[in-house]
Amino acid sequence: METKRLPPILSFVLVAALVPSCIRLTEAQQHNELTFGQRLVNQIAKCNEYAYYKIDVSEPCQDLRIQVDVIEGEPNLYVSKSPNLYPTYSSLAWSSYDWGSEDLVISSWDPEFTAGTFYIGVHAYCGDDVDTGYTDARFSVYVTTVPSVHPHSEISLNGTLPGTLSVNGYNYYRFCVPSSCSNIEVLLTNCVDPKACPTDYAWPELIVSRSIEQPSISDHSWKLASVERRSISLRYSDPDFFPGHYFVAIYGWCTPTENCPDLSSCGPCTYAQNHPYTVSVFIEEVNEGCVPKQPLELCGGNQGFHNQCNSIVLLVMLSFCSIVVILLSC
Ligand SMILES: *[C@@H]1O[C@H](CO)[C@@H](O)[C@H](O)[C@H]1NC(C)=O
Repeated sequence: METKRLPPILSFVLVAALVPSCIRLTEAQQHNELTFGQRLVNQIAKCNEYAYYKIDVSEPCQDLRIQVDVIEGEPNLYVSKSPNLYPTYSSLAWSSYDWGSEDLVISSWDPEFTAGTFYIGVHAYCGDDVDTGYTDARFSVYVTTVPSVHPHSEISLNGTLPGTLSVNGYNYYRFCVPSSCSNIEVLLTNCVDPKACPTDYAWPELIVSRSIEQPSISDHSWKLASVERRSISLRYSDPDFFPGHYFVAIYGWCTPTENCPDLSSCGPCTYAQNHPYTVSVFIEEVNEGCVPKQPLELCGGNQGFHNQCNSIVLLVMLSFCSIVVILLSC
């Protein structure tokens, strides 16, 4: 008895159709691996096409700087995170598309910034609207980390900053914790005691947020919420504590003088105006019994899962393609 087989011509057509798509599938997944501080030279993106790169970022307190130095043509830069492995000019992406070379700093204060793999696309812009016309782009790529820049004053670890209160107003600060294996104390120091400072005591509020740059007293945050308590402690074992950036507000809480029958016990606004204080951040590293945590991802979703998912899907598709090709060619 004869087993049923596809006619040879049909097998041939199927193989011919499948092989290119299998090849394209493997090609589509290729990113050149970048290393911090090592320039990748002699790179080429063909006219109106993309060259793709990736880099693994683990430092939550440093900004990411990507430089594309042009040799020829008009390269532009687009950067994304998983699940978008192939950023283009129409993607939701960080980008730099100046004339000539590109120099992009991605702020680690950006709520979309998370540790993990960053995907980098260099597009060779071609057209009659650029001097370089239809030249392929030739360039080098250089990635470094740089100290973070943000409009709020940074309180360095084990550091102190002075300030003065404004009535019912907020002063903003920030700090960054590089590792979860640490205990943090944020301390607000000022004269809170009417006996010690009868005519210039004040009860400012201290607020610490993970996600809100300018947190107010009702926002999702840690706070003192009491005159007795003057510091906020974040312990390594606290499930809400992650490495990364924190935002601090000092609120000039006070009672309007007209609602203040006894100035020695109501915290009047006249005393709070321009009242001096200092704010400090203390860090103590924990060496024993601490499993390091990755920074909290507020916007990014679960990176690890996507990466794993992509490689599993690729593997399954490739095995499937090879099996079909082998079966059909028998
Ligand atoms: C902060 O001070 C603590 C205790 O003195 C010390 O163990 C730690 O290394 C210091 N950390 C930094 C970043 O200065």
